[in-house]
Amino acid sequence: MIIQFDNVDLVIDDKKILNGISFCIQEGSNTFIMGPSGSGKTTILKIAAGLIFPTSGKIKILNRDISNIQDLYFVRENIGFVFQYSALIDTLTVIDNVLLPIKFRKKKEFARNKKEYIDKAVEILEFLGLKGFEKYYPSSLSGGMQKRVAFARAIITLPKIVFYDEPTSGLDPISSSQINYMIQQINKKYNITNVVVTHDIISAQQIASYIIFIYQGKIIYDGLPSDLSNTNNQIIHEFFNLKGLGVKSYETN
Ligand SMILES: Nc1ncnc2c1ncn2[C@@H]1O[C@H](COP(=O)(O)OP(=O)(O)OP(=O)(O)O)[C@@H](O)[C@H]1O
Ligand SMILES: [Mg+2]
Repeated sequence: MIIQFDNVDLVIDDKKILNGISFCIQEGSNTFIMGPSGSGKTTILKIAAGLIFPTSGKIKILNRDISNIQDLYFVRENIGFVFQYSALIDTLTVIDNVLLPIKFRKKKEFARNKKEYIDKAVEILEFLGLKGFEKYYPSSLSGGMQKRVAFARAIITLPKIVFYDEPTSGLDPISSSQINYMIQQINKKYNITNVVVTHDIISAQQIASYIIFIYQGKIIYDGLPSDLSNTNNQIIHEFFNLKGLGVKSYETN
């Protein structure tokens, strides 16, 4: 198990945001965390990435307990994060955005092996279909391309795990499909475990190995996508049926 949550609670201002969350994520999987808006998906990612601490419970990443602040360096070394709105820096070119984690965390090493890192960034950009865009600024790229730059930045340090928060939100179906394909390729080529938070049922159908479904801070489904239809949970049925029929008014993002 590459990630393990054991009875994790998060309480903010007397409100239980997460309530007894326990799950395991298998190494090499494309695990999807799904659920309605406000259910606690992003919060789970933030806790797994060591960005916030839970009120109680245990989290293990690569078999290491990360409840301790001292372990955060270890966490950051082993994970990549793709934020919901790409979070690229507008005043930096594509390649400088991609190199940011290296420049920031491994300043000396970057200075020593600059060419090697630049070549690596170019290779990753090419792999993600962005060859020739190294010197562009993010504002001149489409939403889907910006997303892929954010992917490149998340994988430049070759982490073991990448977290993606709503990677296809706001994209048209063709760009979404490309993004899903890229996520799958990142898993295959770089042997990265992907954890994807999304409302996007089509993405889940295309690439999810497992689905963890959150509702009001609790897990109500954890298993294979193919077993979803066997549950008799009404919320799961409504979520997947409504979305499956493309009822746009149900979109929350
Ligand atoms: N720092 C905070 N202070 C107070 N409440 C918070 C905080 N962070 C999150 N929440 C609340 O916790 C709940 C879960 O939020 P979270 O962002 O994890 O939901 P989500 O499932 O990612 O939703 P969405 O699909 O809309 O992104 C929400 O009710 C939110 O308002
Ligand atoms: Mg969210």
